[in-house]
Amino acid sequence: MTTPSFETERLRLRPFRDEDAVALHRIVSAEGMLKYFPGPPIPSLEKSERLVRHQIEQWTTVGYAWWAVELKATGQLVGWNGLQFLPDTKETEIGFLTDKALWGQGLTTEGGRIGLRYGFRGLGLSEIIALAHPENGASRRVIEKLGMQFDRVTEYFGMQLARYTLSAAGHERGAAETSRRA
Ligand SMILES: CC(C)(COP(=O)(O)OP(=O)(O)OC[C@H]1O[C@@H](n2cnc3c(N)ncnc32)[C@H](O)[C@@H]1OP(=O)(O)O)[C@@H](O)C(=O)NCCC(=O)NCCS
Repeated sequence: MTTPSFETERLRLRPFRDEDAVALHRIVSAEGMLKYFPGPPIPSLEKSERLVRHQIEQWTTVGYAWWAVELKATGQLVGWNGLQFLPDTKETEIGFLTDKALWGQGLTTEGGRIGLRYGFRGLGLSEIIALAHPENGASRRVIEKLGMQFDRVTEYFGMQLARYTLSAAGHERGAAETSRRA
């Protein structure tokens, strides 16, 4: 299938391309970026290349995956955002990572809304989860700003992670609330 692209006020969410790996490697290599991820804190370029290839393939095999996120104004790659299928639990997780230089501007939350909307309205999913290391305050805050509900701390990927959920009905209630306030 063709990977859909979306635009928000400041972002373009588009399919990954193999050549994104170099820019992505620079982004994930910033100090502390992978502090709450499994695996070595200093990633290799090969790992970014594998990640990009995996995302490209997932759109074909699963039907959804992460988007490459770029700033509309400049075309600069700033990270990833989107959905990931977890084969062990058959769940769909929303995940994100944003260039450290751009933290705190609401960009991740802006991109995250697209993944939720696409998952529920485009793919017809009934539930989307989010996972964050309990000490990853910024990630937990983004997840909460996206309207997801804390469930419990439990094991995923060999780590104890805070698990959040959002149902399709909950997403529609949140959307209705936002448009009422607008
Ligand atoms: C998590 C991450 C994507 C957030 O990106 P971002 O673009 O700064 O996110 P936003 O600007 O949309 O929102 C961040 C929110 O977290 C808040 N925040 C930042 N650090 C925080 C902390 N230590 N504790 C609690 N809240 C924190 C910000 O104030 C902001 O909330 P506000 O809008 O209410 O002020 C970014 O920190 C990142 O890429 N981290 C490394 C990768 C990662 O951990 N990804 C998540 C894996 S689960």
